[in-house]
Amino acid sequence: MSDEFGRYRLEAKIGEGGLAEVYRARGGDGSVYALKRLSRAHLGTSGLTEVFANEARVASEMQHASLLGAIDSGHVEGWPFLVMPLAAGGSLDLRLGLGGGLARALLPALAMELGRALSAVHSRGYVHGDLSPGNVLFDEQGHVLLGDFSASTTIGTSQRQPQGTFAYMSPEQVRGEQMDERADIFSLAVLLWECVSGQKIFWREAQHLCFMAVVEAEPPAMPPGFDAMETVLRGVLSKAPETRTLALEEFCQAFANAV
Ligand SMILES: Nc1ncnc2c1ncn2[C@@H]1O[C@H](COP(=O)(O)OP(=O)(O)O)[C@@H](O)[C@H]1O
Ligand SMILES: [Mg+2]
Repeated sequence: MSDEFGRYRLEAKIGEGGLAEVYRARGGDGSVYALKRLSRAHLGTSGLTEVFANEARVASEMQHASLLGAIDSGHVEGWPFLVMPLAAGGSLDLRLGLGGGLARALLPALAMELGRALSAVHSRGYVHGDLSPGNVLFDEQGHVLLGDFSASTTIGTSQRQPQGTFAYMSPEQVRGEQMDERADIFSLAVLLWECVSGQKIFWREAQHLCFMAVVEAEPPAMPPGFDAMETVLRGVLSKAPETRTLALEEFCQAFANAV
């Protein structure tokens, strides 16, 4: 395919979610970017244009080496879009799709880089709200690029409807309660648990069972040999945020030390 879209030429569709589609796009200067726009099917649907515009606004505040912030955004004949750096190294989703988790040697750097990326989001006043394997991308060298600010919300506020990837949400997010940094720490622990063991601890086929698992279920025991990591992860997977005592950096460091 090749398609003009405002100042950009869309070269290939590289991703698709519930609300948006993502393209590899070439700018007028010849550089390659990722362009995300509202799905064609949702064009003109009342409310969704505003939802996307909100994502573009938040993403434009996320300029950081570990984040896929928006470097351009706007509308092409009413069609909202945002432009970000292209993550050439694929997604964590893709790597976990093979099953069995990640190589142990990769875990410390992954945890520390995710910690830095989340910390950059928090220091800008936001909870990421959707830390999940599809939103963790990599550059050519394999360094983390955290993207997708569609569920991001100001620290200390709640989402009108829980938005995000259900199996990675915190209990307070599922309940529609106020969220702060600890919600992302919970999601990070769910994601790292999967990277360690391949287990999707709160994933259930039906959405309501997934919600219940997040709120009530304890993660199953990890396979033998991962005890130290399991202890650190369980420490921040407590259901009540006030009992998650480790701050982001401390948690990431403790996890990396436990690998
Ligand atoms: N900057 C990017 N570079 C490369 N691929 C990307 C980029 N942004 C998104 N994608 C791909 O598109 C998918 C959907 O993008 P995302 O922003 O997560 O949208 P959604 O809000 O629909 O989940 C991602 O899982 C990823 O595979
Ligand atoms: Mg996404």
